[in-house]
Amino acid sequence: MTQDIKHTALITGASSGVGVDFARELAKRSFNLILTARRIDRLEALRAELAEAFDVEIDIVASDLSSSEGANRLHADVRALNRDVSMLVNNAGHGKYGPMLEQSLAEIDSMIQLNTTSLTVLTRLFGEDFKERGGGYILNHASFSAIQPPPYYSVYAGTKAYVLAFSQALNHDLRRHGIKVSALCPGFFASEFLENAKQTPSFIVRLMMLQPRAVARAGIRGVLKGKPVIIPGLAWKALNLVMKMVPRSFATGLADFAVKH
Ligand SMILES: NC(=O)c1ccc[n+]([C@@H]2O[C@H](COP(=O)([O-])OP(=O)(O)OC[C@H]3O[C@@H](n4cnc5c(N)ncnc54)[C@H](OP(=O)(O)O)[C@@H]3O)[C@@H](O)[C@H]2O)c1
Repeated sequence: MTQDIKHTALITGASSGVGVDFARELAKRSFNLILTARRIDRLEALRAELAEAFDVEIDIVASDLSSSEGANRLHADVRALNRDVSMLVNNAGHGKYGPMLEQSLAEIDSMIQLNTTSLTVLTRLFGEDFKERGGGYILNHASFSAIQPPPYYSVYAGTKAYVLAFSQALNHDLRRHGIKVSALCPGFFASEFLENAKQTPSFIVRLMMLQPRAVARAGIRGVLKGKPVIIPGLAWKALNLVMKMVPRSFATGLADFAVKH
């Protein structure tokens, strides 16, 4: 992608964690940005930081993506800005750790809505815009748990398996419109995710922990190249190969051990 003409990226979940690093990485690459999340004060602080360091335009749009109406509204609000969006980073997501039968239906519903329904609505709406403009990029944040579901993350892992399958199929489907779609499948990285999920990181999880900046960089590089699936970090790439070679029940037991020890 040449940066003679500035591109504009919309990043969901830009108020914390890797969303902040997606914004930094794209600003470094001269993308204009539209940042969205619920915590506007955080987005304002990020805009101030980036405006100081980079010559890019940054808009902020508040959104609550816990319903498909929220996703529809975000699309309409972004259209009203009159920016020529060429990249969608579907990053917002959350998970709950623990036995499924101890999770409330409201918690389960909110994971499914945010991680899959809103992501799908945004992909459909911006995908159509990208088709009309002759191309674009869609980076969908899945997780390594889409490849190897850890026990006690059953609903979360299910939503991320959807994101992986959806994006992998779309990578092929939308290619003819010049749209590149990738699923980003990182292992654990430092953010507010684990605290919100109520998971205390085990020794192995801490050992394998990725840096959010490296995850963001791998994601942006991968989607610009049109890679269908992106797994950041050598250790996680190796683990992916191992998990494919061992029986599924053994792999799930291994994931359980790693999360607990
Ligand atoms: N951290 C990990 O170990 C890990 C591993 C693999 C994949 N991931 C994925 O990485 C993505 C980013 O998570 P993170 O780790 O950076 O966690 P994080 O720090 O908790 O960030 C989550 C982001 O999602 C936004 N969000 C949450 N609920 C929302 C809602 N209802 N409407 C709109 N935005 C909402 C939050 O913003 P507001 O609260 O301000 O709305 C925040 O900006 C998620 O999709 C997650 O599943 C994380």
